[in-house]
Amino acid sequence: MNEATSEAMKEVTKTSAVGAISIRGIGKTFKTGKTTFRALENIDLEVGANEFVTILGPSGCGKSTLLRIVAGLEESNEGVADVDGDTIVGPGADRGMVFQGYTLFPWLTVRQNIEYGPKLKGVSILERRAISNRYLRITRLEEFASRFPKQLSGGMKQRVAIARALANGPKVLLLDEPFGALDAQTKLEMQEALLDVWEKEKTTVLFITHDIDEAIFLSQRIVVMAAGPGRILKEFPVTLPAERTPEVREHPEFLKLRRELAGLLRHKEL
Ligand SMILES: Nc1ncnc2c1ncn2[C@@H]1O[C@H](COP(=O)(O)OP(=O)(O)OP(=O)(O)O)[C@@H](O)[C@H]1O
Ligand SMILES: [Mg+2]
Repeated sequence: MNEATSEAMKEVTKTSAVGAISIRGIGKTFKTGKTTFRALENIDLEVGANEFVTILGPSGCGKSTLLRIVAGLEESNEGVADVDGDTIVGPGADRGMVFQGYTLFPWLTVRQNIEYGPKLKGVSILERRAISNRYLRITRLEEFASRFPKQLSGGMKQRVAIARALANGPKVLLLDEPFGALDAQTKLEMQEALLDVWEKEKTTVLFITHDIDEAIFLSQRIVVMAAGPGRILKEFPVTLPAERTPEVREHPEFLKLRRELAGLLRHKEL
């Protein structure tokens, strides 16, 4: 096969479903001085291309550690993780990460924050402008393009963080309690905005929360973790209508799942 054909084939695979995450036998032990702490034990998790999976669990059960391993920001002691068969050995443009804290560059405007990744990659100014326009529109931030982060509300900052992650064209979006610091109303709006982005962009999403309602509203599948050592307790498919309107929160299936999850987590510190 010549080079052009192989490049063309890569393009074809890129447009079909991509972004499957495979986590097999992941274990992590932290060492602090003479003490060791078993943060993750034998984690197996498969996330399909374009699937929306949420990890739910009490504080300290290892959710962030697991996500950081998938992001390539932390090394595991055992096991392997890959995206579409490519072993994760460090951070990469195929994975976009959004944290709970506001991690925008304060000296850059909203647009410059979004264009930051493409600029590093050497994307031309015209193309960069097209990318930032697209994600400003999707995250409904068009009128705030020239503002600086300190001039934005918490919800807006998180939308910029999502737009910035998407601007790199990731196959996978990794979100670690991105809406944890927001007020209840903004949180609901952000959840709807994220689902909108997920539908339009067809990325795979691995989302972390300790909010049961948030997990049910967003996900196709919920993975519950427990602490001591951090492990997967149980998985729940979310069999709600694909279109998640606010009314879905009153759906009998939603209420049933909420009861089940609350029961499972009752004795844990959420
Ligand atoms: N760098 C580190 N060194 C030592 N221990 C760590 C380190 N990072 C995390 N831990 C420990 O590993 C455990 C899991 O931490 P992690 O941040 O993954 O939990 P979490 O489930 O994300 O909790 P939360 O819901 O509070 O964010 C915790 O007990 C934490 O103290
Ligand atoms: Mg965490």
